[in-house]
Amino acid sequence: MVYENLIYEKQGHVALITLNRPKALNALNDVLLTELADAVEMVAADEDVRVAVITGAGKAFAAGADIDYMKDFNPIQAQSYMEQGQGLYRRIEKVRKPFIAAINGFALGGGCELTLACDIRIASTKAKIGLPEVGLGIFPGFGGTQRMPRLIGDGLAKELIFTTRQVNGQEAKEMGLVNQVVEPEELINTAMAMANVIASKAPIAVGLAKDTINRGRQVDIDDAMSIEAANDCLAFSTEDQKEGMHAFVEKRSPVFKNK
Ligand code: CAA
Repeated sequence: MVYENLIYEKQGHVALITLNRPKALNALNDVLLTELADAVEMVAADEDVRVAVITGAGKAFAAGADIDYMKDFNPIQAQSYMEQGQGLYRRIEKVRKPFIAAINGFALGGGCELTLACDIRIASTKAKIGLPEVGLGIFPGFGGTQRMPRLIGDGLAKELIFTTRQVNGQEAKEMGLVNQVVEPEELINTAMAMANVIASKAPIAVGLAKDTINRGRQVDIDDAMSIEAANDCLAFSTEDQKEGMHAFVEKRSPVFKNK
């Protein structure tokens, strides 16, 4: 598939998605959001793909929603744009395959919010992460007001949103905003290595674990436990569960088939 603003590559069981509009620091205009939505559906539909890594070309992961594109929006147009971004990011959370954000540089506004919708974040030491929206007369609208507090707590999230302060990779790690911080030249290899470890595990079980964590967050602990039990019982219906446990008992490595 050839895209205008995005590169989609497959390396083994991992899809590498590169936001590729570097002249505008990968600002998320309609074309890029539409292409990213298409790429996410490719990840969802391709049985061979078990994990996706998202990164950015050039010096930015993504510098946010496209300010030039939305500067004269009326509220109806703004609503449609917010729904486009929110819908796409929610879809990333709902696809039963892990998404890893490899944050190579600026991840601001909607770019930061895209990383928050991913399951795991790895930052380079060149990353600059922030939510600058209140400096533009709006506030984060692609899920940042909801996902950032869930990830780092209300106090820190409010500080980042109200002050628009950008944090580097190291500070982001200390806040729990990213899982790891690595040198720029190690970023993609680190993300791909993690993706390959995940891809070597039972894919349906990984997907059910993601679904359980994400849905469990939204309900009380008893309902969350019910989701966990139901999903874990579902795992017992897979060939990969039989393979994983029999391989353990037979003292050999399992070969998972995503079945
Ligand atoms: N939208 C549109 N264009 C953008 C952009 C954005 N979010 N961010 C950068 N660009 C464009 C610039 O206009 C510039 O284009 P030209 O070369 O045509 O002038 C090009 O990308 C390079 O940017 P700079 O010259 O500004 O690069 P810099 O290195 O001097 O600064 C930066 C980098 C600090 C990231 C700066 O570009 C910047 O502040 N960008 C805006 C960040 C921002 O406010 N993002 C939030 C957007 S609102 C949002 O995301 C709402 C939401 O919640 C969904």
